[in-house]
Formats: sequence, C-alpha cells, structure tokens
Amino acid sequence: MSTVATAGGRTRRHLLSSADLDRAQVRAILDTAGEMQGIQQREVKKLPVLRGRTVVNLFFEDSTRTRSSFEIAGKWLSADVVNISGNGSSTSKGESLRDTVLTVAAMGVDALVVRHSASGAAHQVSQWVDAHVVNAGDGTHEHPTQALLDAYSMERRLGSLEGRHVVIVGDLTHSRVARSNLITLRTLGARVTLVAPPTLMPSGIATWSQVDGFELSHDLDAVLPTADAVMMLRVQRERMSGGFFPTAREYTVGFGLTRPRLQALVTANPDAVICHPGPMNRGLEIAADAADAAQSLVLDQVSAGVAVRMSVLYHLLAGEES
Ligand code: NCD
Repeated sequence: MSTVATAGGRTRRHLLSSADLDRAQVRAILDTAGEMQGIQQREVKKLPVLRGRTVVNLFFEDSTRTRSSFEIAGKWLSADVVNISGNGSSTSKGESLRDTVLTVAAMGVDALVVRHSASGAAHQVSQWVDAHVVNAGDGTHEHPTQALLDAYSMERRLGSLEGRHVVIVGDLTHSRVARSNLITLRTLGARVTLVAPPTLMPSGIATWSQVDGFELSHDLDAVLPTADAVMMLRVQRERMSGGFFPTAREYTVGFGLTRPRLQALVTANPDAVICHPGPMNRGLEIAADAADAAQSLVLDQVSAGVAVRMSVLYHLLAGEES
C-alpha cells in the first residue's frame, strides 16, 4: 500500500494501484481475506474492528458487485458506510470532482472508495483529502481490489499461483481489470499471457512499466491448452467510440470462450478454471456453457469480493490513529 503525506500533514495508507503492493502485502491481504470469509458463513456477520469509522463509497460509474461488496464489507466490519453515486449527487448539477470530494471529506470521513471514469481519478482524490483512498476502478487504468479477489479465487481452487499459467483474454484496451490482474499475478509469480485481437491490444503494451515477464498473443486456440486459468474480459462497448471489431459474431469466433473452446480447455486440463469479473456479455465473450461450467469461478469471485474488501479496509484502517 502506498503511504502518502496528506494535505493535512498526516500520513495515510492508500490502495491506488496493484503496483502499490509487494508480494508480502498481497499475501497478507489474501490471508486475512481467508479469515474474513469465515464470517460469511456465520449467522451474525459482524466484527467490531472498524466501529466508529466512516467509509464513503463514491461511485461516479455504474457498478453492481464492486459497490455492494464494499458496502457489505464495511458494514460487516462495523464501520458506518455511506454510498454516494454520481447521478444522485451534486456532480449532476455541475459540481467538480474536487468540490464533491472536499465536501464529503469535510464531514469527517476515514476512507473514500472511489470509482470514476477518468484514469488517475483515485490518485487525484488521494492528494485532496485527509482520508484513506481505495481505487475501485479508474477509467481504463486500474482496479486493484478486483485483481486481489481474482487471485484469491484462483488460489482457492488451484493452490499457489507460482508458475501457474493465467490467460487473460479480450478487451485489453479498455480493461482496468487486465492491468491490475497482470501486476498482481506477476507479483505472485504466475505466468501470464494476454490475448486480444490487434485492435484491442493497447499500443505500447509490451513495454508497460511496473511489470515484466508476460507474453502477448492473438491466437487464443494456441494458448488455451496450456492454461491453468482463463480470465475472460467484458467487451466494454460503452468505452468504444468506433469499430474495434467487424461484428460481434466475428469477435466471438476469434476470441470468445465458446463451447468448443471450453471443451478444448477441459480436455487439455480438467482442473483449469474460468474467471470473469462481471458483468458478463453472455454469448459474446463467454458462452453460457462456459459461464455456468463446473470450472467457472464467476460466483466464487463475487463472494471473494466481500472477504477481500473486508481485508483491504482492515489493513488500511484498523489499528490506525484517526
Ligand atoms: C469490472 C469493472 O467495472 O472494471 N467489473 C467489476 O468491477 N466487477 C469489469 C467490467 O466492467 O467489465
């Protein structure tokens, strides 16, 4: 986690990028998440560790699972949790992000969980406030808690990810999930191959800073048989201004996890797992058969999201003087 001096002169821990976490810190978060997951099975799902702390979820982009899992995570740790969304806030009246953030922070908030369509927004927010900031997705840049929960879910099924081959497939150009996953998976020692059509492969990807030792491919069928995990990315049409591929059908034929590809994967490695961060475009990047297969971790990922976000909030906030 990055420790940053705030405008108020205090130091605060933030989680803005997956690169903020070294291997020991990732391990600590995943191990604590394992303990937190036990709470999910209990009838009374409460720990007192963040009693008296206030967490604000500031979401300027749509979200189902990330926002609700941060909310549940905060509540199960006994924090007071407030949700603010772009639509229902004064930003729809023209207020700037800075003014909105300063207004919320002025109420005495301990942590801000921020989702915004601009890459770098969470980092900006961390410069303005005296609270801990968690990046819950900034534009096409990063989504570190998603990468943590993906690693957690894969480890539960595969064991250590050291040397395991994870294949990340799809809309790499618009995917903050791919970038954060690549960083965290490499931190954990996994082998990573990124697969996309040339039009959805970001320029300069081969020399992405902060991370090395990954492979690139345009041929899903060639890499699938060696995969221990296949992570399908949503085709992010809302971020596309033009034609990144000729037709949906062509995309599916080239890069979808279709039923024949599911069979090829399972035949080559019956223990291989399938991930998707959601929301899924069934029939486009992933066939229903693959999404619902015994190998699919999609719902495990959602459930891990709560435990991992509890762990992140705990590591940022617990034991700190406020
Ligand atoms: C992702 C996101 O919003 O970045 N979803 C999520 O957090 N579960 C991926 C996506 O929207 O495709």
